[in-house]
Amino acid sequence: MKKPIIVTLVNHKGGCLKTSVTASLGAALARVGKKVLVVDLDAQQNLTSSLIGPIAYDPEEEPFTLYEALMEEAGLDDLITPTGTRGLDIIPVTEDFAGTEISLVSATGREGILKLCLERTTRLAEYDFVLFDNPPSIGLVVMNSLVASDYFMVPCSAEYLPMVGLTLLGTSIGKMQKLAPSLQVLGVVLTNYSHRESICRKTENILRDQLGENLFNTRVRVNTKAKSAPSVQKTIFDFENSAQGRGTQDYSKLAEEFLERVEAKGQTTMPNAVSQEEDFGQEQVANG
Ligand SMILES: Nc1ncnc2c1ncn2[C@@H]1O[C@H](COP(=O)(O)OP(=O)(O)OP(=O)(O)O)[C@@H](O)[C@H]1O
Ligand SMILES: [Mg+2]
Repeated sequence: MKKPIIVTLVNHKGGCLKTSVTASLGAALARVGKKVLVVDLDAQQNLTSSLIGPIAYDPEEEPFTLYEALMEEAGLDDLITPTGTRGLDIIPVTEDFAGTEISLVSATGREGILKLCLERTTRLAEYDFVLFDNPPSIGLVVMNSLVASDYFMVPCSAEYLPMVGLTLLGTSIGKMQKLAPSLQVLGVVLTNYSHRESICRKTENILRDQLGENLFNTRVRVNTKAKSAPSVQKTIFDFENSAQGRGTQDYSKLAEEFLERVEAKGQTTMPNAVSQEEDFGQEQVANG
């Protein structure tokens, strides 16, 4: 059975554009003919609200939710929902997902449950890519996401505190090596970037020195239109409706680089297990 490439979008720092990058990269990949499934793993429901609108949760009415699927270790087929973009589907989240973190604590094999659910999802074979949007934390939900993934990608605002936060994030993910031995880093993507702000340029220079090729060349620039697009459940591409749109350009470029990176990594014979020191250069970042 064909298996999609599965990617976790992760950063415990809030507001670094994890959700925006998941939605917009997903849409950009769909626009170049890829079949993409995005999964909302955050009880904030931001990805769900952005792409299909918030889902009211009624325990009596709701037939089956992502939370229940995880608790029952069931396949996710019934949760797959189309979005307004051809080729882009979503597994939405409902408010009961807020209980996941606590419920997982006592579950057997608690870090591998999402992976099990995916293995039981028949329709997974339809997709080229699965992108997981995560909450701003490092807990069991994020661990499940990483264990189920081939790669992780880190959106990071181009400023000081998010940059030094990469050190801790690298340490946390590095500790998961035993649970996810073949997980590879796809790269850090600078977001909220503005050429006019010296802190953005400085952050980029430091990270370029320390992360080398693990820093995406593409940056997601500050874009006020990106703030409005989710309110009408439009992707940035539909909202800008212009090839010159800032978000349209950034995310098209990001998708191109994403595909190049995935292809290059796929050609590596040995799986690059995550190494805290090498992949993130944390000490250098912290000292840089
Ligand atoms: N290119 C952009 N420029 C400026 N603001 C943006 C851009 N893209 C998205 N935003 C806004 O930035 C805010 C944070 O973005 P987003 O929700 O994607 O971050 P997040 O990392 O998912 O946050 P959380 O950690 O809460 O899940 C949102 O209000 C969003 O509308
Ligand atoms: Mg988010």
